Parts: sequence; C-alpha cells; structure tokens
Amino acid sequence: MHRERAMTDDPSRTANRTAASNADSDADSHAERHAKAQAGGQAGSDADLAAGPDNPDPSQAGLSNAGLGALAYISGFGNEIETEALPGALPQGRNNPQRCAYGLYAEQLSGSAFTAPRSANKRSWLYRIRPSVRRMSRFSPIDLPYWKTAPHILKDVASFAPARWDPIPLPRTPTTFIEGIRTMTTAGDCHMQTGMAAHLYAATADMTDEYFFNADGEMLIAPELGALRIRTEFGVLDAAPGEIAVLPRGVVFSVEIPGDDKKARGYICENYGAAFTLPERGPIGANGLANPRDFKTPVARFEEKDAPCALTLKWCGGFHRAEIAHSPLDVVAWHGNYAPYKYDLSTFSPMGAALFDHPDPSIFTVLTAPSETPGTANADFVIFPPRWMVAEDTFRPPWYHRNVMSEFMGLIRGRYDAKEEGFVPGGASLHNLMTPHGPDAEAFDKASAVALAPMKLDDTMAFMFETRLPQQMTQFAASGDHRQDDYADCWAGLEKKFDGTPGGKP
Ligand SMILES: [Fe+2]
Repeated sequence: MHRERAMTDDPSRTANRTAASNADSDADSHAERHAKAQAGGQAGSDADLAAGPDNPDPSQAGLSNAGLGALAYISGFGNEIETEALPGALPQGRNNPQRCAYGLYAEQLSGSAFTAPRSANKRSWLYRIRPSVRRMSRFSPIDLPYWKTAPHILKDVASFAPARWDPIPLPRTPTTFIEGIRTMTTAGDCHMQTGMAAHLYAATADMTDEYFFNADGEMLIAPELGALRIRTEFGVLDAAPGEIAVLPRGVVFSVEIPGDDKKARGYICENYGAAFTLPERGPIGANGLANPRDFKTPVARFEEKDAPCALTLKWCGGFHRAEIAHSPLDVVAWHGNYAPYKYDLSTFSPMGAALFDHPDPSIFTVLTAPSETPGTANADFVIFPPRWMVAEDTFRPPWYHRNVMSEFMGLIRGRYDAKEEGFVPGGASLHNLMTPHGPDAEAFDKASAVALAPMKLDDTMAFMFETRLPQQMTQFAASGDHRQDDYADCWAGLEKKFDGTPGGKP
C-alpha cells in the first residue's frame, strides 16, 4: 500500500496554519483560533492559506504520488506552526491525548534541551502512523568513505595554505545525494556539538525508498547545479540553485533529483553546534538583510507506504543502515518550531557602503549559528549577492585580510569580484585561521584604476561558510584532482609599488 497526502480532501477546510509569529505568542494563537470559531469558521480556514505560487489552491493540492505539483509552504522564520494533512489529525489544546485521532502516535522531536531559554527552545510534536522507535533495530555499520566528521585532523596536510578548487565532476555511475557527499573541511568536534564541516555533493540518482537522518548536526544545503526535491518527515520542499534548504538535526529525509536529467551538485554546511538563526540587525533596524517572511516551511505531507525501505543514520561520525518495512515519512500532522525550511537568496536585501569604504562582510550574513561567545559564530552563512557599488575614493573589492575566523567559499552563479578568473561556479576556496588573502593581482590593478561611477555587480552569487574554528582539509580536498596547485600564484603579480615617494610607482 502506498498513499501520500498533503491536505484535507475537503477544500472548505485547509488545515495548515501559522499559529504565531514567534515562540512567545502561544496565547495569541489560541485567541486567534477562538476568534475564528466565533466568526463561524473552523480552525484553519481557507483564508489561512492564500492561493499563490507557494500556496496553490488548497482544493487542487496534490493527493496522489503521481507528482507533487507546486508545493505548499508556510511563511516565516522560527514560527510556531501547526499543519495537518488530514482533518482533525492535530490534537487541539493538548499535545498527547490519551488516544490520537486516526490511531496516530504522538512523538516529540527536541532540537534543544527541554530547559533551554524560550528564545532558543526548539521542539515539534509529530503525529505519525508509527513511532520512530519502531525503526530502531538491526542497524549495520556502512561505509560512506568520503563523508568525514570532526575531529578529522591530518598532520601532513597543510590546511593553513590558501586553497582553491575546480568543480568536482558528476559521478559516472548512479549516485544518490547521500552517496555523493564529499567532505572538504571539518572544524571542531561533533562529540562536543561544536564546529562544522564543509561538503560538496554531486548526485545523479534519486534516493528511492532510501531515507536518512543526521544526529551530528543540521544540514544547510546550497544547490549550484540542478534542483533537489527533499521529502522530509515534516513535508516536502524543493530547493533550486539560488535557494538554500536547512534540515534540522535528526529530521528524516530523502532526496530526489526532479526531471529526466539527473544532475545535481552543490554545497553543504553540516553544523554540529547550535541551530542556525537570524543575525541581530542592530542599528539597521527592523527590516533588511534576510527578512523572516521569506523563509518557507513545508506543510504536513505523509507517505503511507508498506514496502521494503532502508533507513541510514549518521551518529558521531559513523553511518548505520537498517532495512525497514515502511516509509518513515509517516507524519500526518505536526506543530512546533523545529522544522526544515527553505530560503530564496534573491530575497536577501543587502546593505552596503553609501559613501566610502568596503564594509565588513558580516553585513551579508543570512544565518548565524552562535557559539557560547557572544558575536562569535560557530558557523555563519554569508552571501555576496548582486548589488550596487557606489563608494567614492574606495578600493571596492574586499580588502587584504587576515582573520581569526576561517572562511570556506563557494560560487553558485557568475563571478566573484575579488577573483576575476579561476573561481568558477561549483568551485571552492579556503582561507583559514590567520591565512592572508585578498584580491588577486588582476583584480587589484583593475580596481585601483577604474573610474568610480556607480556600478552594479550583477550575475553573481558567492557565499561563505565561516567559523570561529580552524578548518581541517580532508585528503580529498588536499590532494584531489580538483585542487588548483597554482592558486597562490594569483598573488605573484602584486609588485612592490613603494619607491619612497608619496605617489609610489605608477
Ligand atoms: Fe576574508
């Protein structure tokens, strides 16, 4: 038997709604629900899910497994959300009633300690066909040899050296998303729940009846080539190049590559530490950078599939696999604030210099995973999007730089302004703890002489995984064919211009 459902059959009742705009507004959600009931509507009316590109007409929402069509999402970051794929599946007014509707099992998924402060408390309640514990037996270790976990320190690898890589080729044999992950760097220690890993992925096959969860960290996925359809316990989300998807620690998922042309490549930040959140804006104010409304969480959708499947988990760097007899994506309804989400990078509202100087790149932080030291990230996700450059009397590309934070960069589209050549979409670079870096000779000469009219940097989308911890290169990164042996030569043309005169050499 295989059934898949996203929403109620009854178009008069759409069962997906955002209960509150933040974790402290539970009371408002109840008041709102009562107000709707008083007005004669049911809990969750059509008005809660307006039709649109991401929220199609509820009556037309996919109910079959013959293609999902446009997916439905709920807008907002870190919200308390409630969503159900069958009417009445979600208990009201309590989390674990004596008997759940439809014979479902109630299960809490905690992404933070029970006692974490409200602002950092992450948990969701899932109402599912079978409890997850039903699948926890007869695991066997398996090998995914290219996926490494911190600590993974190779003494003979010079991770401090500036490094740059070409894109990795797509596999010639069918390779799933999970099989296609290649670790470039690791930082910190997953056992201490601190640090991160930077991975590339290259995949050519769907995870058919294959499911996965990662106990070691959350996964921020940035496609560069080809879209991904990510089926999760919480619902289904698509992520195309130019978008990111974030899968919280422990969430079960399966990845498909839509279309006949099975080619997918991109980047992953595996964050072992506290969950990504939005950075503070300080004097910027209440709007700008990544706006909360542009984050999208999928609505509940479940698979009722009683067929041979497999579940693989990653736990403290090891991989284990079990044969199971059903799909684990069997959550019919859920509520809470711990769930996967996606974000379109083109909705980032960049801030920049309005008169002079190149600002610190932290101004482009999309998401930050804090450490215990205020303002010092365990991991930051930073982008360099299209934007206007208007600064007067300013060397406009990034300045020369040494940094206690370590910087892994990738390029999703176009070119990056500090490197005119050699850094291409799908490629990567690493500038580690206290490793000097900056524009190459060509970029320096050009930016030093260019007429400073307002100029738009267009057709570009670079990003950075930045961490306070040093990043250790894997063997795959250090000696793979894709490493550019001559990267440091890009600075060789930076000649001495000092000649003792105020103007220097021309
Ligand atoms: Fe830097």
